[in-house]
Amino acid sequence: LRIAVIGGGANSEHDVSVASAASVTAALDPSRYEVLCLTIGRDGVWWDAAGSAVGLGEVVSLLQGCAVVFPAVHGPRGEDGTLAALLDLAGVPYVGSGVRAGALGMDKWTTKLVAEAVGVRTAPGLLVTHTRSIPTDIALPVVVKPVAAGSSHGVTRVDRQDRLPDAIGAALALDDRALVESYISGREIDIAVLACADGRRIVSAPLEIVVADGLFDTARKYDGTADFRVPARLTPDEQTLLEQAALAIFDALGCAGAARIDFFLTDAGLVLNEVNTMPGMTAQSQVPRMFAARGLTYPELLDELVRAAMT
Ligand code: DAL
Ligand code: MG
Repeated sequence: LRIAVIGGGANSEHDVSVASAASVTAALDPSRYEVLCLTIGRDGVWWDAAGSAVGLGEVVSLLQGCAVVFPAVHGPRGEDGTLAALLDLAGVPYVGSGVRAGALGMDKWTTKLVAEAVGVRTAPGLLVTHTRSIPTDIALPVVVKPVAAGSSHGVTRVDRQDRLPDAIGAALALDDRALVESYISGREIDIAVLACADGRRIVSAPLEIVVADGLFDTARKYDGTADFRVPARLTPDEQTLLEQAALAIFDALGCAGAARIDFFLTDAGLVLNEVNTMPGMTAQSQVPRMFAARGLTYPELLDELVRAAMT
């Protein structure tokens, strides 16, 4: 089966997406898959495995020569529906969510609106833009983040009003909208949903991120020090609520493939943090580990994603 694996991307998560694509490529069984590797540079230029720049017209031709595409690209102009749109227009099946779910899920503000609409709580938050003034009456602490970014890039916890402008500036450096959300104190629990080729959906084991103090920030995400507990220790009731909330959001956004849905478990119940429609896909990333804990190995997970894409 000829498969294109796309990595990189023109956003702050470029390196993470290079790692995801490399890991996916390495795990695809060479006796069954013939892999075409394409990488999108930080500047948006596409490259083939031989290091030659490839124009977009040629990219489309190459992709159309493949049976399926695995777009392992996180973040804006990747995970946000743009790549899905290109692949839809090219008429090539691809792994993961389509345009709508990618666009909604990449946008933390619309995700919040959709989640609240299906009864899943989110942190109280407000939008700040370059033209909308900085709130002066907000209860601290807050977390300030770009509306559309990933890997915690541009995210700051703010405990003092005088730190708010810099935090908003950092978020607005990555997006034209920033989200100022009440800081949620709780356990950080992730869960993933996989839509299988036969129409079933498999819910992963929950994973708890144990962070000694403060935020699971960019450094902690990738310096190898994060402590993941898989499966997270939950009561049966907590487990049920988590699974129901994850499925409700997966369905409301109309996700496909595998999505990781991140929550806080607080004394007052579950609060959605965010959705990742193309979550980190290295063998050490959360999603492969969460499905491994349910008996699905990393290569099996990739096979299922490919099968589902081609159905
Ligand atoms: N945005 C990163 C890749 C993740 O969700 O894992
Ligand atoms: Mg994310």
